Amino acid sequence: MAADCTEPGCVPRHVAIVMDGNGRWARQRFLPRFVGHEQGMQTLLRVLDACAGRGVRYLTVFAFSSENWKRPEEEVSGIMGLVLAGVAKYLRKLASEGVRIRVVGDRAGIAPKLRAAWDEAERSTVHNTRIELTVAFNYGGRWDIVQACRQAVADGLAPEQIDEAALAARMALAFAPDPDLFIRTGGELRVSNFLLWQTAYAEFYFSDCLWPDFGSAEVDAALAAYAQRERRFGGVRPASVAPQGA
Ligand code: IPE
Ligand code: IPE
Ligand code: MG
Repeated sequence: MAADCTEPGCVPRHVAIVMDGNGRWARQRFLPRFVGHEQGMQTLLRVLDACAGRGVRYLTVFAFSSENWKRPEEEVSGIMGLVLAGVAKYLRKLASEGVRIRVVGDRAGIAPKLRAAWDEAERSTVHNTRIELTVAFNYGGRWDIVQACRQAVADGLAPEQIDEAALAARMALAFAPDPDLFIRTGGELRVSNFLLWQTAYAEFYFSDCLWPDFGSAEVDAALAAYAQRERRFGGVRPASVAPQGA
C-alpha cells in the first residue's frame, strides 16, 4: 500500500461524512423520524469502528447543521436529547477504544448541559490516538469561514497578513489535514454547507444508501472507490510529466 494517502491505492487519512437519510429511513418503516436518528447513532458507532479498522486517522461527521434549526421543534429537541444520552452511554466505551472526540460548530445557543457533556467528551479522550472523531454540530461551512475571519481580526492581523494559511489556522478543523474523501449518504448530490473551505480538493463519493443502512461493506465500497481516484491538486498526471532531459 502506498505510504502517502493521496496516492492511488491508499487509504484516506481523513474521511468526512454527511450522514443523511435518517428521516426517510424511518418514514419507509412508518416510524417517527426520531427513530431514524436513533438508528443513525448506531450507524455512526459502526462506521467509526470500520474506519478505525481500515486505518483512517480522522473521521468528521455532520450531525446537525446551522440550518437544521428550521426543523420542527420536536425533532430538534429529540436530536439534542439523543446526543446528550449518546455521550452518557458511549463515552466510556469510545474512550477505552482509543477514540479522540472533538465537537466543532457554534456552541452559542446549545444547552449548557450538552456543552458540558461535550467538554467532558473532549477532555476525557484528549490523549487518545487510534482515530479522531469530530462531530460537526450546529456547524456550517460559511459559519466556519466567518468565525475564522473574526478570529483573525480579534488577533490583530492586518489585512496583508490575512492569507490562506492565516485563515486555515483558525478554521474549526485546523488540527486535521483537509478531508481526502467526502461521503454523502441518502442520495442527495449536494454539500449542504458542510466543509466548504476544507473540501477544496476532497474526492466526493455519493451513496444512495440511507445513513441507518450504512455499514462496513459501504465503507469498504467508498474506500475502494477512493483508491481508484487519481488526485492531481491542479497539477499534471505523473505519467505525463516529461522525463528529465527529454
Ligand atoms: C440526517 O438525516 C440527520 C440530520 C440532519 C440531523 P435527515 O433527518 O436529514 O434525513 P432525511 O434527509 O430527512 O431522510
Ligand atoms: C445535511 O443534511 C446536514 C446533516 C446531515 C447534519 P440535510 O438533510 O440537513 O440537508 P438538506 O436539507 O437535504 O440539504
Ligand atoms: Mg436530510
